[in-house]
Amino acid sequence: MARIDPHSYFDPDQPITKTLFLKLIVDFGTKTLRGEVRLGFGEPISGALDLDTDELTIHSIETGDGRPVSFELGEKDAVLGRKLGVEVPKETTELVIAYETSPEAVGLQWLGPEQTAGKRHPFLFSQCQPHHARSMAPLQDSPRVRVPYRAEVTVPEALTAVMSAGSAGRNAGPETGTATFLFEMPQPIPSYLLALSVGDLASKDLSPRSRIWAEPETVEAAAWEFAGIEEMIRTAEELFGPYVWDRYDMITLPPAFPYGGMENPRLTFLTPTLLAGDRSLVAVVAHELAHSWTGNLVTNATMNDFWLNEGFTVWAERRILEALHGKDYAAMAWAIGYSGLQEAFERFGEDSPFTRLETDLWNIDPDSMYSEVPYEKGARFVALLEDTVGRDRFDRFIREYMDAFRFTSITTEEFLTFLEAQLPGLASRVDAKRWLYEPGLPDNAPVFQSADLDALQDLSAGWPEGERPTGSQMAKWSSEETRIFLQGLPRSLPEEDCKWLDSRLKLTTRGNYEILVEWLTIAAGSDYEPAFARIREVLCTVGRMKFLRPLYTALGKNPRTRALSADIYASAKSGYHALSRMVVESVMEAYPKA
Ligand code: BES
Ligand code: ZN
Repeated sequence: MARIDPHSYFDPDQPITKTLFLKLIVDFGTKTLRGEVRLGFGEPISGALDLDTDELTIHSIETGDGRPVSFELGEKDAVLGRKLGVEVPKETTELVIAYETSPEAVGLQWLGPEQTAGKRHPFLFSQCQPHHARSMAPLQDSPRVRVPYRAEVTVPEALTAVMSAGSAGRNAGPETGTATFLFEMPQPIPSYLLALSVGDLASKDLSPRSRIWAEPETVEAAAWEFAGIEEMIRTAEELFGPYVWDRYDMITLPPAFPYGGMENPRLTFLTPTLLAGDRSLVAVVAHELAHSWTGNLVTNATMNDFWLNEGFTVWAERRILEALHGKDYAAMAWAIGYSGLQEAFERFGEDSPFTRLETDLWNIDPDSMYSEVPYEKGARFVALLEDTVGRDRFDRFIREYMDAFRFTSITTEEFLTFLEAQLPGLASRVDAKRWLYEPGLPDNAPVFQSADLDALQDLSAGWPEGERPTGSQMAKWSSEETRIFLQGLPRSLPEEDCKWLDSRLKLTTRGNYEILVEWLTIAAGSDYEPAFARIREVLCTVGRMKFLRPLYTALGKNPRTRALSADIYASAKSGYHALSRMVVESVMEAYPKA
């Protein structure tokens, strides 16, 4: 009985799952997945086995050769869900668990037709990271456990199922009007990378190893936006070594998807808010692609080491962007990230333990602590290591690191031990302990600057004193430059300033959501009525938490917008993912009363 993961009942002294086989029926009528999971152990096992579940109904458990197995579901823990305690009889090599999910499963979002682009068919997608695979199937839901998997997923015949796996065909389903999709993921993955999406889907090939999936209504736009994917994959391969996952497909989901992107192997999940029409938001794709090395090959042992996953990936993403678009472009990405980091420091307080890289999340819901800290502080730590030993040496180190820990999940301490062995003395030279175990951003953090960036940041800093960009300056701005300028402005402006900005930069009608939401956040914080309708429209369609948090926060500043916020949330709520609702509600609880 030795738990090592704050977010799982997984016990490393017990047998470890070696293979997983899912056979599921997707029932849109009841919003449930029904069927069985087969957990294989590769050798005879017996004795106690603790699995994770969340809101699952377990119908029965048998051994692979048909012997009944006794089990007990524990009390519900708010963070972990229920432990499924199984008494495995002697000589068991496989367990067959018949079960069904709940319509409330946190890891699944069931959308009505009105929430899709086509408005005709329902839609389903999963989001298992960090610890919600257990609401989709009973399993050892800790990243320390990696398994290859297979799946048979039955859906209404008009719909298509896709997974974080290779496709192994489509058959007629068991009942008329159904179809069964087969999947195979031969490489071992942590449970948080299990992923399923079902809907009215079309696809378009972007290269021999990459295709985009989306609803038929958006597939052309998505194919255009991400047309550069093959060049990006090649660039990443030059930096980090061969892409090992065979295919790199992507799917743009309906706008309720709570994240920007999710690195599900072989099938990155993306928000449709990336479809800006000018390819300006592909940094998110660079990020999810980078996870194919940093994360999906080597990931965090538990969420306490999450920075190892996201910090390395943000660093890798910026290296890809630099290779594709140059140093100045990468500097802008670092600057945009810095402002996100500052917001996180403000949210927690700079002395908060949640601003450490290695965190202590025992008894804490990792979703409630999600922030830019592991991302942007983590990436700055990696960049500091790189700067200190030099790029050539560090690039060799990264490949050695990935070779050494390929298909494993490691702790911060395991990383440090490896770092010390490969690059002795580096950790102490950069004061790694301070970075990892203390709050805030250390003063030896690398600074990414360029002349353009300085000029832009000076311009927004001068706003309160009346400094204004000229028309010809603004006409030349890229969307990143517009974003950086807006980020530097005060969060609350007089009405005439709002009017000035909106009329010159046409902000309210922007299709680039990063610019749009940056602007709407200022407008909301300024109680600027002409933007209210657009704020409502955005909040009633988009569920991406990155946008909900700043918008709802800004709406809380003034009495009139607080009322607007409550009114919008009442109509938007039913379309939000459970996690999005959690974010909005925590923001609203912090509103001043009255
Ligand atoms: N793996 C994350 C998303 C995630 C993290 C989901 C933790 C659940 C728990 C993904 O790679 C990610 O970081 N997405 C970012 C985009 C990125 C460019 C920073 C997002 O969704 O905003
Ligand atoms: Zn990521």
